[in-house]
Amino acid sequence: MHEVRPPEPEEIGAAVRQVLGDCLGYLYPAALRVAVRLGVADLLLDGPKDAARLAEEAGADAASLHRVLRFLATRGVFREDAAGAFHLTAASHVLRTDVPYSVRSTALLLTDRMYWDATGRLEDTVRRGRTVFDEIFGAPLFGHLDRDPEAAETFDRGIADLSVIEQGGIADSYPFPATGTVVDVGGGPGGFLRTVLAGNPGLRGVLYEQASVLAKHQLDDPAVAGRWETAEGDFFRSAPTGGDLYVLKRVLHDWDDAHCLDILRACRRAMTADSRLLIVDAVVPAGNDPHPAKLYDIAMMTIFDGKERTEREFEVLLAGAGLRLLRTLPTPGTVSIVEAGLA
Ligand SMILES: C[S@@+](CC[C@H](N)C(=O)[O-])C[C@H]1O[C@@H](n2cnc3c(N)ncnc32)[C@H](O)[C@@H]1O
Repeated sequence: MHEVRPPEPEEIGAAVRQVLGDCLGYLYPAALRVAVRLGVADLLLDGPKDAARLAEEAGADAASLHRVLRFLATRGVFREDAAGAFHLTAASHVLRTDVPYSVRSTALLLTDRMYWDATGRLEDTVRRGRTVFDEIFGAPLFGHLDRDPEAAETFDRGIADLSVIEQGGIADSYPFPATGTVVDVGGGPGGFLRTVLAGNPGLRGVLYEQASVLAKHQLDDPAVAGRWETAEGDFFRSAPTGGDLYVLKRVLHDWDDAHCLDILRACRRAMTADSRLLIVDAVVPAGNDPHPAKLYDIAMMTIFDGKERTEREFEVLLAGAGLRLLRTLPTPGTVSIVEAGLA
């Protein structure tokens, strides 16, 4: 029989502190959300301020705000000096509204009720093996977004901010050909396609999306003028033909394997022997080390039956759609580029 080794007495104190600290870990995103909603990072732009002044300007209770900011300072979000004034740090700068590297909207999305309430039911999700989002909100995530303009705004802004932060690094991480056509399948409002076209003047682009998203596209940029078109459609059924490169950025992780196979098969039908497919998603590494992909994976499972995948899982999925994994390229951010061709 396998022998279970109990912890040594000197290990127990640290283990208890770790587990109980982790049990209260949800207070960190809650506190972060308070600071973002009160606009504390923007309020510190004209210099350090104590909690009383910040509370007055933000319309909050000074003593409560001080306790929240003191807690956030333990994670490097703001820094409190000996006189009790709070300063901006790198982590608080990215929560400002007016900077190109802002993740303020993404922070508001990731701490929104859509994530928060579904996370509170994680046990049900794990027991059943599927999200309970529809039970909480009356519809699956994308259906909920269709019905609730405020939630849709929160979602679109959060995703757009994230895209802005990562798209330059992703575009620089792939050796795009000098000429050809890039089809961004489920490309959102087109920020990534615009970045790719702007950096590669010989390329043309097609933004393939649902009509409601195309209505808000961001391709009207002189740097890419005359080199793009939009195409409306359903990526489960088909993809536009004529592409040299097909991109699926942050799309497959939204879906279970059966839906992913439909999307990949639609791309496969549109591809020629020379076309390449680029899956841009987090790739879960082996081993026990922390990795953002393992964190995002739980969020995917919680809100829409999505998942982050290992390289092997992508290989199997691609094979099921008549495609072959050619190589996996890293990017400076949390995602990788999985390149595939026809099998
Ligand atoms: C998580 S977003 C990713 C957007 C973009 N690729 C990015 O990285 O920012 C997934 C996108 O898939 C699109 N989408 C969902 N269902 C679709 C369908 N059936 N056909 C085409 N696009 C769809 C959504 O409109 C959304 O823009």
